[in-house]
Amino acid sequence: MTINRDISAEQRAREEDLVQRVLRSFDTCEDARLGEIMRSLVTHLHTFVREVRLTEAEWTEAIEFLTAVGHITDDKRQEFILLSDVLGASMQTITINNEAYGDATEATVFGPFFVEGSPRIDNGGDLSFGAEGRPCWVEGTVRDTDGKPVPGARIEVWEADDDGFYDVQYDDDRTAARAHLFTDEDGGYRFWAITPTPYPIPHDGPVGKMLQAVGRSPMRASHLHFMVTAPGARRLVTHIFVRGDELLHSDTVFGVKDSLVKDFVQRLAGTPTPDGRPVDRDWTRVKFDMVLAPEEAS
Ligand code: BEZ
Ligand code: FE
Repeated sequence: MTINRDISAEQRAREEDLVQRVLRSFDTCEDARLGEIMRSLVTHLHTFVREVRLTEAEWTEAIEFLTAVGHITDDKRQEFILLSDVLGASMQTITINNEAYGDATEATVFGPFFVEGSPRIDNGGDLSFGAEGRPCWVEGTVRDTDGKPVPGARIEVWEADDDGFYDVQYDDDRTAARAHLFTDEDGGYRFWAITPTPYPIPHDGPVGKMLQAVGRSPMRASHLHFMVTAPGARRLVTHIFVRGDELLHSDTVFGVKDSLVKDFVQRLAGTPTPDGRPVDRDWTRVKFDMVLAPEEAS
């Protein structure tokens, strides 16, 4: 540990004695894992407090901040998750729990806008359900790490509309820009969606204030959410991102992985579409082949 200020041997001994006393207080913990987590948490917390020589006023401010995070949280808004997201803690937990396995597709943040019970569409269907945006043809395959197609994999897709809003943020109960579908016998899938555009995370609360105080933007890079499940496979929660998006290097929740950045190829209005559907405005198309790790992969 680096303590930035010069402190006397007596002062150092007092601080270290306190750390040891707190650590020993967990000796009675019968749950070995809980004990491990609490000891590590206390060690890092005390290191932090000592390293920055936290003032009592700063500690009070931190408590007030966490209190505000709690107050704005309800069954629709989870500010603690948002805090974890912007500190990279969500992404680090995901990275640890979706260990690299062969060529399995990388996972990224889940986000707060998934809802159970999305409508089912057929392969080739349209999940926009009237959400505003430039049409986008999405296609690809789902395979296992041996390269075998995974038929019948369930693919959930959700995204924001052109104004940066998910349907759950609308004033009415409309469902839009979300659906699920299943891969065909060859592990293939295809659907119409809308071309993703950038949007800010909810930033009208304490997390938004914190971002502003440190000079950070609340913007997420443009993305399309996927969640893929299949028997015997590790659940994959991921996104695809738009190559060329200037926010790729500053995504506020650190969700971008190079392997998930895809070419959204621009097509002019009237260009023949893959399924023959007439589209009278500019549209895009993207290919996303996914690889699922086996369930036993950590
Ligand atoms: C999202 O992608 O929808 C999201 C992820 C993390 C925080 C807020 C939004
Ligand atoms: Fe999102």
